[in-house]
Amino acid sequence: MIKNETIETIKKRRSCRAYKPVQITDEELDTVLDAGTWAPTSMGKQSPILVSVQDKETIAELSRVNAEIFGRPGTDPFYGAPTAILVLSDADRVTCVEDGSLALGNMMNAAASIGLGSCWIHRAKETFEREEGKALLEKWGIKGNYRGIGYCILGYSAEAEKTPAPRKTDYITKIK
Ligand SMILES: Cc1cc2nc3c(=O)[nH]c(=O)nc-3n(C[C@H](O)[C@H](O)[C@H](O)COP(=O)(O)O)c2cc1C
Repeated sequence: MIKNETIETIKKRRSCRAYKPVQITDEELDTVLDAGTWAPTSMGKQSPILVSVQDKETIAELSRVNAEIFGRPGTDPFYGAPTAILVLSDADRVTCVEDGSLALGNMMNAAASIGLGSCWIHRAKETFEREEGKALLEKWGIKGNYRGIGYCILGYSAEAEKTPAPRKTDYITKIK
């Protein structure tokens, strides 16, 4: 198989669930956000929007609501990450989930490529269907029919290197 830096990064990326209590740099944040904007979108409509959140109180509020939806109140589903990028997608686009998911994938791989830990955090859909979520969108001045897709949390990893699960044997079928 061909090996290059991109392929190596894709294979090396792991979900990170423990973070150092240190904020990432603006340059790192902007690099990850920019990579998200270069993901392909159906018909090139660029249906997702990316909202980076670094305010501790806002992350705590998002985490509180997320834990409640998860049925685990009092836990921190954001794992203490200092940055969370919320991906919302235009709900009027039939491919809003696919478009937003690719932005998340790009951002997680970009994060890995510059030495940041990252993880997809779920339950954004339910969060922004709730009054608390809608109030945040209003506060941020985000208007429109958006669906929550997920969060890419970011920070410096406080985890030891992990061994990934082996890939299942029937992942690939080749028809020649
Ligand atoms: C759609 C989706 C939702 C996920 N939601 C969460 C989540 O809420 N919390 C979490 O810790 N990990 C979440 N993950 C991360 C997966 O658990 C993780 O990717 C998987 O265990 C494989 O591990 P790896 O990313 O290290 O290869 C999610 C991943 C995807 C693709």
